Amino acid sequence: MVPILEVHDLNKHYPVGRSGLFGKKRMQVLRDVSLRVDPGEVLGLVGESGSGKSTIGKAVLRLIDSQSGGMTFMGEDLNTIPPERLRALRKDMQIIFQDPYASLDPRKTIRATLSEPLDTHGLHTGPAREPRLLELMGMVGLNPAFLDRRPHEFSGGQRQRIGIARALAVEPKFIVCDEAVSALDVSIQAQVLNLLADLRQSQGISLLFISHDLSVVRFISDRIMVLYLGRVMEVGPADAVHFAPRHPYTAALVSAEPSLKHESRRIRLEGDIPSPLDPPSGCVFRTRCPYALPACAAAVPDLRPAGDGRMTACIRDDILQETAHD
Ligand SMILES: Nc1ncnc2c1ncn2[C@@H]1O[C@H](COP(=O)(O)OP(=O)(O)OP(=O)(O)O)[C@@H](O)[C@H]1O
Ligand code: SF4
Ligand SMILES: [Mg+2]
Repeated sequence: MVPILEVHDLNKHYPVGRSGLFGKKRMQVLRDVSLRVDPGEVLGLVGESGSGKSTIGKAVLRLIDSQSGGMTFMGEDLNTIPPERLRALRKDMQIIFQDPYASLDPRKTIRATLSEPLDTHGLHTGPAREPRLLELMGMVGLNPAFLDRRPHEFSGGQRQRIGIARALAVEPKFIVCDEAVSALDVSIQAQVLNLLADLRQSQGISLLFISHDLSVVRFISDRIMVLYLGRVMEVGPADAVHFAPRHPYTAALVSAEPSLKHESRRIRLEGDIPSPLDPPSGCVFRTRCPYALPACAAAVPDLRPAGDGRMTACIRDDILQETAHD
């Protein structure tokens, strides 16, 4: 099976500050990130603010450049793809943002907003346009009579449905959902999550689902990848990662969930995330890890198999071997 998206050793840094004697200082935002999204699969990406989630989303859509790393989309090498081919592939890769209000043009009617991507790719033109617009409104549960309204006439949840309809308009194969429900009230979050889950089933779309909220990610994802300071800490099937995390950072994220039943396994994170300008040596999580040993500072732990299809980047096999909670 050809993956929808495959990424190998993605690295991204930003130059910061003024040039000094030794050149510009760099802020390394992503370090050796590899991932795969299969057809029809939802890969959840979770991590605290600043861990690099949006940067991954933008890099895989080629909205920003990365310094190194292999990327293929439906088997095509995104690093060497000719610009005209990338333009054509853009139809198949879409993004839904956190703030639908900021990403919707307040002056445009929903009809104009949904028509734009169809015009760009020459789809559903002429008499086929109206039925397509009505179909899209139906797919996201919006009244077709609203087509001529503008964004300010909708609630937050409705606006996010418009954002989803806009992404779906061109029948993409893959959508990056970047904090797509984070700005919504909890009850509306559940409705929009259910809609995305249904659409993913009915349309066979793959999602890279980004959120800082593990419980949201778990609801919709087949597999979950946990990011900390631009590095992958753990990746594997959603249930395994959530119910029996093997990495202390994942365990801490699980612990922070309000539904946790077994208090005894609770891991509280102390301190702040270190600056990406000056990350800890060895394991980047070691300054906040309750299990850190001197050896954790020596080398960056490899991602290695940890049972149940999971990979984890921790040198300690002697901890977290039991189910964290049920
Ligand atoms: N254009 C930029 N120039 C410099 N630094 C940037 C730029 N974009 C992002 N960063 C930095 O890269 C790091 C990762 O940012 P990113 O937006 O990917 O994190 P995130 O995990 O999506 O966070 P959040 O949960 O807050 O959305 C942060 O330290 C951020 O400040
Ligand atoms: S390698 Fe060490 S510091 Fe890093 S998560 Fe494992 S025990 Fe903690
Ligand atoms: Mg982000």
